[in-house]
Amino acid sequence: MKKVLVMHGPNLNLLGEREPGIYGTDTFESINAEITKRAEELGFECEVFQSNSEGALIDKLHASRLDCVGVVLNAGAYTHYSYAIRDAISAIKIPVVEVHISNVHSRDAFREKSVISPVCVGVIAGFGKNSYLLGLQALKDITEAE
Ligand code: DQA
Repeated sequence: MKKVLVMHGPNLNLLGEREPGIYGTDTFESINAEITKRAEELGFECEVFQSNSEGALIDKLHASRLDCVGVVLNAGAYTHYSYAIRDAISAIKIPVVEVHISNVHSRDAFREKSVISPVCVGVIAGFGKNSYLLGLQALKDITEAE
């Protein structure tokens, strides 16, 4: 079975209690359960990973190239300034879909810039937890076309 990695960056472990007006009230655990279920419905084995550390996220991206067909990545605030994560995405070659729960274009000015978008296959933002599910669908379409 094809495997995908869904990766959450910093502060996303607090989903459910973190700024619920922006990120919703669903808990991190319940969102991950929905992600895993949708991935299985699409025929993927799914690993979910979260870290608040840039290096751990980079290590996981590197590892994913060995056993995954693609990655759905919410890099959190690293999206806006981590050239190291950008370089890791470039290095691994498998498709990475950038996702955001909130519409990053309707918030603070610093969130409008993503340094990872140019090396991702596409960007999904503003659909709440569904952004992750849409990201999985995108990976399905991409990997089927391969
Ligand atoms: C986020 C948007 C980022 O700007 C923010 O730093 C996050 C979450 C989102 O999912 O909407 O941590 O990536």
